Amino acid sequence: MALCIISGLACLAFAGVGSCVKVWPPGEPLRRLPSGEPTGYRCSMSPRITTGTAITGSGVWHPEHAFTNEALCVAFNEYVRRDNAKNADAIAAGTHEPLKESSAEFIERASGIKQRYVQDLTGLVDPERMMPYVPARSEDELCLQAEYALHAAKQALAAAGRTGEDVDLVVLGASNLQRLYPAIAIEVQNALGARGYGFDISLGCSAATGATQLASQAVRTGAAQCALVVVPEMTTGHMNWKDRDSHFIFGDASVALVIEPVERARPGAFEILSMRMMSKFSNNIRNNGGYLDRCDPETRDNPDKLFHQAGRRVFKDVVPMAAKFIADHIASHDLEPTAVDRYWLHQANQNMNELIAQRILGREATRVEAPLILDEYGNTASAGSLIAFSHFHDDLPAGAYGMMASFGAGYSLGSLLMQRM
Ligand SMILES: CC(C)(COP(=O)(O)OP(=O)(O)OC[C@H]1O[C@@H](n2cnc3c(N)ncnc32)[C@H](O)[C@@H]1OP(=O)(O)O)[C@@H](O)C(=O)NCCC(=O)NCCS
Repeated sequence: MALCIISGLACLAFAGVGSCVKVWPPGEPLRRLPSGEPTGYRCSMSPRITTGTAITGSGVWHPEHAFTNEALCVAFNEYVRRDNAKNADAIAAGTHEPLKESSAEFIERASGIKQRYVQDLTGLVDPERMMPYVPARSEDELCLQAEYALHAAKQALAAAGRTGEDVDLVVLGASNLQRLYPAIAIEVQNALGARGYGFDISLGCSAATGATQLASQAVRTGAAQCALVVVPEMTTGHMNWKDRDSHFIFGDASVALVIEPVERARPGAFEILSMRMMSKFSNNIRNNGGYLDRCDPETRDNPDKLFHQAGRRVFKDVVPMAAKFIADHIASHDLEPTAVDRYWLHQANQNMNELIAQRILGREATRVEAPLILDEYGNTASAGSLIAFSHFHDDLPAGAYGMMASFGAGYSLGSLLMQRM
């Protein structure tokens, strides 16, 4: 049994059963004592839940080319003008719908995206092409997604003070996999000189939080001691650059995390207290591209083989679903949503994130509480919440709580409640 002091009053906490944590920022109390006196500590008498694992390092990488909304719309609008000119007679006869132009102003207002990073610009600014050039590589070369993964993995390992040889599990999660076998994670494992095993998982926008949970579970059960999560989201290959409704959404980036037992974690690591997953089938975000495409030459190049969505419906469905999912997860720890110092939310749409955070907190979240990266990166599919974590955690003091959460295609949702060590 341990004794802790709250503003001069004694509070009993049972070792391994309850806990008291100094709040942050100092002088900004989140709870009050029954007397009404503000407390400098959060105190929970319910059992302290933990996975016994921690994020000990993270790293982000993106390709060098930034593609602004303005440049994107110049290319798209030229494509529209050429297509309408080609179909001028049919448009005049009323048998063909003219294409409409896009606008940088609409994109920023509707999504919060100002630019994205892309693997190849040349193919995207060519109105006759409207897709990236990604040269095929020989089987002796590292594949593109493995290369993406390694860029971020090296940074994450350096941050954790580990090397490739320390790693005994690689879990690769991404919304798109450039091939199914050999698993790209095994190629990454080999390139790093890692031991153990590796596998890929696919779960749309929650592939990265799903991969992190699988890595944490493997560490928790002792199947691995040092797990590497890699999320190589090379998304510009799955986009329909000719579709006005979605041509602005995605960008390319890669993120990686190192997961280890808390006993091996250094101060400053993020202990994963608990994890949640949820899925509910929906056709509202879909991509039918797959290995059976060549079996039906009539349909193999149809636009449904690329990303497509009913964006408005996604917005309506996912906002309440994600807000409840995240709030329930926090409540399971006997915490108030305002006791969570940082929300690293999925990065698909700024308006969506603001609404979800507002529903959880009961008021608007500040940018410090719920940081955004999608203005710079665009939607990086499952990588978004992990990139937000990687860029916005340094300022949090020991004891601070953070919630990482993803929501999107599937629908699939994933969340991790963490506490800084
Ligand atoms: C996709 C999304 C940004 C679209 O924003 P929206 O406000 O719903 O926009 P809408 O599609 O309803 O279109 C609104 C208007 O803008 C127009 N518009 C659509 N795309 C446009 C473009 N690129 N440029 C200019 N205008 C455009 C539409 O024609 C429509 O005009 P109308 O009202 O005259 O018919 C938004 O729905 C979204 O992000 N949803 C969530 C999607 C999501 O999270 N997906 C997960 C992917 S991983």
